[in-house]
Amino acid sequence: MTLTRLFLAALLAAPLGLHAAPDDDAAEMEPDLKAGEVMFRQCALCHGQRGQGILGGKYPRIAGMPEYYLLNALHDYRSGERGYDAMVVVGALQTAEDQDLINLAAYISDIDIELDVPGPEDGSARSGKRTYKSDCKTCHGRKGEGKSRKESPPLRGQYHEYLMRQIALFNSKERIHADDPEDETFVDYDEEDILDLMAFIASLDDQADDEDDDDDEDDDDRD
Ligand code: HEC
Ligand code: HEC
Repeated sequence: MTLTRLFLAALLAAPLGLHAAPDDDAAEMEPDLKAGEVMFRQCALCHGQRGQGILGGKYPRIAGMPEYYLLNALHDYRSGERGYDAMVVVGALQTAEDQDLINLAAYISDIDIELDVPGPEDGSARSGKRTYKSDCKTCHGRKGEGKSRKESPPLRGQYHEYLMRQIALFNSKERIHADDPEDETFVDYDEEDILDLMAFIASLDDQADDEDDDDDEDDDDRD
């Protein structure tokens, strides 16, 4: 390798290093479901025996969420990027190794439950649908199922109180939405817009087919 090429290689490697996932090697680690199950007992104290969360959304549902998203979330809590100290302590995440997070994410995403979560009392699913289609669908999927390509979570099957709390955190920048510190997705919505969105999301079927990456698919507006 010539000096110039070495220099170029270093130059190219540096910015890439900054964006490297916390554990590039981890992507190749095999999950140990049994170990994940054992560790999950700590999580069940708050999230419920089956990771179903609790009505009212203080503890979100985590069962059946996609592995990529669970892994990102666990990394964010462990690093403090998402703050909820009680969970990090009781869930023993502070001392968790990358392998532990992989085991947990695999075990939790395998839990198969169906949740029919109630929407807010106020809120029009019909106008929520309009906003959802123009502002959320590209990333969260037509059926609210989440998209691995965007590393976005499913929104269907989640308590609206929890989702609304996250939106408030996004607005106050205590949590970063869509991986973009400048994100302004929610700034122009008033409370009614958010309730409408929640009503629409609650109307989506928790068991709708998973990921459907076809953005161009025709939507029917007849329902
Ligand atoms: C002391 C109670 C508590 C314990 C124990 C706990 N959690 Fe949590 N967890 C919460 C709360 C409350 C939230 C929501 C925090 C917020 O609003 O940001 C949360 C959020 C989460 C989320 C984010 C969900 C989403 O949709 O982004 C994941 C994933 C999660 N917990 C996984 C776990 C795992 C795995 C464990 C066990 C290692 C665990 N939790 C243990 C209380 C707990
Ligand atoms: C550019 C892509 C993008 C768009 C558009 C987008 N989101 Fe997101 N959203 C994401 C990503 C990525 C995350 C996960 C953030 C993380 O990893 O912490 C997320 C997370 C969320 C969460 C937190 C869910 C949880 O389980 O904690 C909520 C709520 C949410 N989005 C609602 C919406 C709504 C409502 C809209 C439309 C008004 C929308 N998003 C538009 C990419 C997007």
